Amino acid sequence: WILILDFGSQYTQLIARRVRELNVYCEIHPFNKDLSTLENPPKGIILSGGPKSVNDEDAPSLNTDIFNHNVPILGVCYGLQILAHNSIPGSVEKAERREFGRAELIVDDRSDLFENIPQESIVWMSHGDHIITLPDEFEIIGHTDNAKVAAVRHKEKEIYGVQFHPEVVHTVYGKEIVENFVRNICNLPGSWTAESFIESTIEEIRDRVGDDRVLCGLSGGVDSTVVATLVHKAIGDQLQCIFVDNGLLRKNEFRDVLDVYEKDLNLPVKGIDASELFLSRLKGIFDPEEKRKIIGNTFIDVFDEAISEDKSFKYLAQGTLYPDVIESISFKGPSATIKSHHNVGGLPEEMNLDLVEPVRELFKDEVRNVGRKLGIPEHFIKRHPFPGPGLGIRVISDITKKKLDMLREADDIFISELRNNDLYHKVWQALVVLLPVQSVGVMGDERTYEYTAALRAVTSVDGMTADWAHLPHPFLAKVSNRIINEVRGINRVAYDISSKPPSTIEWE
Ligand code: XMP
Repeated sequence: WILILDFGSQYTQLIARRVRELNVYCEIHPFNKDLSTLENPPKGIILSGGPKSVNDEDAPSLNTDIFNHNVPILGVCYGLQILAHNSIPGSVEKAERREFGRAELIVDDRSDLFENIPQESIVWMSHGDHIITLPDEFEIIGHTDNAKVAAVRHKEKEIYGVQFHPEVVHTVYGKEIVENFVRNICNLPGSWTAESFIESTIEEIRDRVGDDRVLCGLSGGVDSTVVATLVHKAIGDQLQCIFVDNGLLRKNEFRDVLDVYEKDLNLPVKGIDASELFLSRLKGIFDPEEKRKIIGNTFIDVFDEAISEDKSFKYLAQGTLYPDVIESISFKGPSATIKSHHNVGGLPEEMNLDLVEPVRELFKDEVRNVGRKLGIPEHFIKRHPFPGPGLGIRVISDITKKKLDMLREADDIFISELRNNDLYHKVWQALVVLLPVQSVGVMGDERTYEYTAALRAVTSVDGMTADWAHLPHPFLAKVSNRIINEVRGINRVAYDISSKPPSTIEWE
C-alpha cells in the first residue's frame, strides 16, 4: 500500500483517487503522523502539496522518519519543496512569477518516473514558491519555461519530486506519471479490487461481530444499502435493517425503496412509519441546523425504540465514507461548520452500540463499484444523492405537511421529466426547493397568491464543488409549465444558477 502524507492541499484526496484507480490501496494521514503506529509498513510514500510556504513559521515540517522505511518517495509541489528545504534550508524562495494553471513540461530524462511520457506535455502548476538551489544529491529530470526545477530525482535513492500536480486531470499524462511511480518504482501490481475488498470485509465483519446482532438504518441511498448488503452477506439475519418514513421522503419513495430492499436484495428490513413523530417535533422550527439536529435525534429515538425489546443488538452499521474520516483527522484543525451532515459523527453515547463502518475507507465511486459487484441494481446505484434530512431542508423556513406535499409533487415532476428526457444521469443531483415567498399570479381570470418553487440541478464530481447544470430551455419550460399547472399552491418557478462555492447545493 501507499502512504500519502497530507500537507493540507486541496488536491490530496485526488492523489488517493489516482492511486486507487490503479487498484492499489492507499491511506491519507497528516504530515506529522507517527509512522511507528502503522500496522503494515507502506511500499511507497507520497508527500502532498500544501497551502503554506516552507519558510513560514508555522509551516508543516518533514517527518524524517520516512527515510528509515527505505521505500520510494514522491514529493508533489510542497512535498518536493519540503524535501529540498530539508536538505538545504533556504533553498526554496518566493518566486518572482507565481505559477498557476497550465504549463508545458519538458522532460529531460524519460526513464523511470517519466517512462513513456512524451518529451513535451501539459502539466498543471499551482505554486508561489520555487526551488532556487537544488541540493547536490538531486538531479533535474524535467523543467518548464518558468520553472527550472519542475521535476527531480535523487541520484542514489528512489526519491522523486515534481513541482506540478500529476493528480489533477489537467496534467495530461498525470495518470501515467502516478502509475510509473506506483507500479514501476514501488512495484505494486494492483491487487486491491472491489472483489478482494468484499471478500476481506465480509471476513472482518464476521470476526468482529461474532454471534451478536447488528442494526442498520437504511436511507434509500447507495452507501447504507451497500453497507447492509455487505453485513448481510457476512452474518445473514443477525442483521436487522430499518427503513424509516420520516415524512420527509420523496413521492412514493417509502414503498418503492422498501420493495427494492425486500424483493431485489432480500434484506431483513422493517419499514417504520414515524412521519407523525418527525413532523410534530419539527413544527415551528425555522433554523436549518436545528432541523438537522431534531431529525438526527429522532432517527436515534426511532432506532432505540425498534430494538428496545432485544438486548442482543451490540452494533450499529453506518455508511461513513473516507472523505468524512479524512476531514476529521486533518491537521488543519476544526474548519468552520457550514452544514452539519447528521450521519457523520456517530450516535449519542447512550445508545450504547458500537459502530460497524465497513466502507469508511472508500470513496463514493468505489462504494458504487462494490455495490455493482454485490448485485445491487444499476438504477439504484446511479440514483442522485439525497440528504438524510430529506425534504426537511428543502422546505425553507418552517415545515408543514401541506408544504411537504406541494414540494413532493413538484419534485416528482422535475425528476420524472429529467428521466424521460435522458437528462437524469447528465446531472449529479437535482432537486426542488419550496421557498417561503408568495407572489401574485393570475390563473384563468383569478388572482392567485401562492408559493415559489426553485429548481436546482448541478454537475459535480464529488459534491464538494458544483456548477449549475445548463439544462435546455425547452425542458425547463416544460417542467415549469407542468409544476404550475399541476401543483396546487405553486404559481411561480425559478431556476437556480449559482455555483458551489460560493453557494451550496442545498439551500439550507
Ligand atoms: P451542500 O448543500 O453542503 O451539499 O452543498 C453537498 C451534498 O451533501 C448533501 N447534504 C446532506 N446529506 N445530511 C446528508 O446526509 C445532510 O444534512 C446534508 N446536507 C446536504 C447534499 O444533498 C449534497 O449532495
